[in-house]
Amino acid sequence: MEKFIIIGGKRLKGSIRVGGAKNAILPILAASLLTEGISTIHEVSRLLDVQVMKEVLTYLGAKIRCEGTTLMIDGSSVQTLEIAEDLMRKMRASNLVMGALLGRFGQVKVAYPGGCAIGSRPMDLHLKGFISLGANITEKHGYVIAETNGLRGAAIHLDFPSVGATENLIMAATQAQGQTIIRNSAKEPEIVDLQNFLNGLGAKIRGAGTDLIKIEGPTRLGSTTHTVIPDRIEAGTHMAAAAITGGDVVVENVIPEHVEAVTAKLREAGVEVEVGDDRIRVQGPPRPKAVDLKTLPYPGFPTDMQSQMMVLMTVAEGTGVISETVFENRYKHVDELRRMGADIKIEGRAAIIKGIPKLSGTFVEATDLRAGAALVLAGLIAEDATVIENVWHIDRGYEHLERKYVALGARIMRVNGI
Ligand code: EPZ
Repeated sequence: MEKFIIIGGKRLKGSIRVGGAKNAILPILAASLLTEGISTIHEVSRLLDVQVMKEVLTYLGAKIRCEGTTLMIDGSSVQTLEIAEDLMRKMRASNLVMGALLGRFGQVKVAYPGGCAIGSRPMDLHLKGFISLGANITEKHGYVIAETNGLRGAAIHLDFPSVGATENLIMAATQAQGQTIIRNSAKEPEIVDLQNFLNGLGAKIRGAGTDLIKIEGPTRLGSTTHTVIPDRIEAGTHMAAAAITGGDVVVENVIPEHVEAVTAKLREAGVEVEVGDDRIRVQGPPRPKAVDLKTLPYPGFPTDMQSQMMVLMTVAEGTGVISETVFENRYKHVDELRRMGADIKIEGRAAIIKGIPKLSGTFVEATDLRAGAALVLAGLIAEDATVIENVWHIDRGYEHLERKYVALGARIMRVNGI
């Protein structure tokens, strides 16, 4: 298994360009199953999760052509309506094909998805929504089967603004007879991007980005060309890396509004953040100040940036409290940070972090995507060498993160198992 070896102590300096948003690419790739037309998608980052979704689409019969970061997907020959367990175990987001296959073919069968080890992540909100739209759901032998003789528009109220459930229900509703209203929908920018992609195909969706989305159906979908929005979590990760190393970095290809919560929190921690039209300059202080933060659905502070901000707090002046309200078990990085000397106490969903002057390098393990990214940030400032195992977790959501940070002056090597 590949590892990173990081020698800490270098301040990051220079500029770094953000790629297309993983969490917009995945639902948009799933949505391309809705049409017999051609979906041309630009700014598709080369990520492990994107590779898995391409495997899923190909397994279902779609034809995919790649040219650099552009994908052309031909959905006309999709005929398989079942996702094998091994594919589903690789990535939870594989369940995003359900809405599209149910909408287009009236049937879909998937194994319970795998994905990050960040708490049990049921699909009850997805399935309840499908039932509201007129689907029958049966669950047996670890598979979920959804089928219908015809979806009908419905008024759906989500118990929780689930990103995936909102996306799956939007996709299915484009083929339901009549109007569907989704209330308490997730408001993430990736959902707006999905709406824009689907409307480009000919769908009639309004309200994405708010907590009330209306979808008229059924609509005949054709072809479209779409450029994916920049990845706000990749941008936030690079902003945190600049802040934590006391560096001076310009993060390019950013939509500043999408990272406002991170900008505000970094400024509160004493970090200089200069916001341009499509770029953000971050200058880190000699030592950040401790802050408190609570993760919330968008536009609140993103849960996908929680572990990165925790690293900043491990070496901040003072004590800060993090409360993780979105996932019930997203502190797997805490044990690894403790191995580096961090002073962190967990009480329920809260983490109390007492800043120390310096982390120390040692052997640590990436346990999920964002925890792995946080360990890279910790290694950048730790004394001596840090070895991070299982870096494939990081490759799921970042394209050669080590190369990007070496270009900013970091000392990181990717090595095969030693
Ligand atoms: C999406 O996951 C993102 N993944 C996650 O990013 C992100 O952390 C999450 O949204 C929250 O912003 C993709 O977009 C591919 P949810 P998703 O449904 O859709 C509970 C990353 O690092 N829930 O909004 O799976 C669930 O247990 C990844 O890029 C139910 O209870 O998230 C969780 O506690 C990690 N029932 C909460 O809602 C359901 O049916 C949020 O889940 C669905 C979800």
